[in-house]
Parts: sequence; C-alpha cells; structure tokens
Amino acid sequence: MNQQTDTAHDDPFKLFGLWMKEAELAEPDNPNAMILASADARGQPGARAVLCKHWDERGFVFYTNLESRKAREIRENPKVSLLFYWKSLARQVRIDGIAEQIPDDEADAYFATRPRGSQLGAWASRQSAEMPNGKADFEQRLHEVEERFHGREVPRPPFWSGFRVTPRAIEFWEEQPFRWHDRRLFHRNDEGAWTMSWLYP
Ligand SMILES: Cc1cc2nc3c(=O)[nH]c(=O)nc-3n(C[C@H](O)[C@H](O)[C@H](O)COP(=O)(O)O)c2cc1C
Repeated sequence: MNQQTDTAHDDPFKLFGLWMKEAELAEPDNPNAMILASADARGQPGARAVLCKHWDERGFVFYTNLESRKAREIRENPKVSLLFYWKSLARQVRIDGIAEQIPDDEADAYFATRPRGSQLGAWASRQSAEMPNGKADFEQRLHEVEERFHGREVPRPPFWSGFRVTPRAIEFWEEQPFRWHDRRLFHRNDEGAWTMSWLYP
C-alpha cells in the first residue's frame, strides 16, 4: 500500500478514484469493465461484464437493454454485486448494493454521446433473446433501423437505459506477498456514514 492510498483510508470513493486512475494507466483495455452479478427471484445467480460509464458518491452506472436477462433479474431482485478486477495491478474492488434505473434525462444525455453505430445497434438488438436464423436476424434488424433513422438523429430506444448501483458495502483487495493480502471493507450504515474494517486475507 503506498502513502497516497493510505490517506484515502476513511473514504471509499476517494480510494476508488485513486485505484481507477491507476487502472486507467495500467490496463490496456476497458479499465472500467466490471462484473455484474444478479440473481433472479428464485435465487439463481448470473454474472456478466458491463462497462461502468459513470461513478460518484451516489453509485456506479452502467447501460443496457431493459429487456435483457440482467434487467429482468434486477426488476425481480434489485440486490446486485459488482466486481472490478484489475489483473495488471493485482487488485479487485467488490461492491454490494441496490440497482435502480436512472432517470430518462440522464440516459438520454448519455445515449446522445454514443457513436451512431452503437445507437443503431441499441435499437436493433433484442438483447439476450434468441435469434432463430442466427446473425442474419440481427443484420436484418440493423438494416431496418438504418432505413428508419436515415438522415436524422437516433433517439434513445424506450427499452434501453442505465442502472445505478447504490453501494452498501465496498471491499478493496490488494495482493501482497505470500497471500498476506490487504482487504479493507467499507460499510455504509443506515445514516449514510461509512466505517472501515480490515479483513483477514
Ligand atoms: C468488457 C465487456 C463489456 C461489456 N459491457 C456491456 C455493457 O456496458 N452493457 C451491456 O449491456 N452489455 C455489455 N457487455 C455484454 C454483457 O457481458 C452481456 O453479454 C450482455 O449484456 C447480455 O447479458 P444478459 O443476457 O445477462 O443480460 C460487455 C461485455 C464485455 C466482455
């Protein structure tokens, strides 16, 4: 642990910011990738990678299709877990919290910044649904939306938005020699204050 991270002891967001900055320098691809674990109403877990497009003290935001498996599971059970794993730094951050759909104006603003191809893809993809004719189905739908929005701006699809995960607990894990790893668990109490405890490796 270096001196800089030490000063961030009491504030998980300050520490997260430092680690994310270091990950942006160290990770060649998608340092903002995080594993999102959700579970359906029966308790069956599922995990997949998503990109964290925004974070601040309110939480961690990702975007997706609202009819996808993950979005369905979140509607059934909003308790989720996020995991950032930065291999090149031998660090992980685990976040447990509650996922909630973000306001439409926030999703609109982000969607407007996306490349046109991504915007069209969002319209064309029925994410997580089966394609009976393979990729030809997606290509067909892409062709249709290209024609539909030809010569004009692509609005955000009503079935595409973001979720913000409001954290209740954030654990920072950092590799140390002999597996004497550092584990710091921050926990938010009902008043919103964060407390930190060290965990055995
Ligand atoms: C590095 C990486 C980043 C990804 N980012 C996103 C994302 O931000 N949003 C998204 O919907 N899917 C993203 N995906 C695809 C998801 O992992 C997943 O395949 C898709 O969302 C369908 O998941 P579901 O069927 O569980 O809903 C990403 C995949 C990878 C490997």
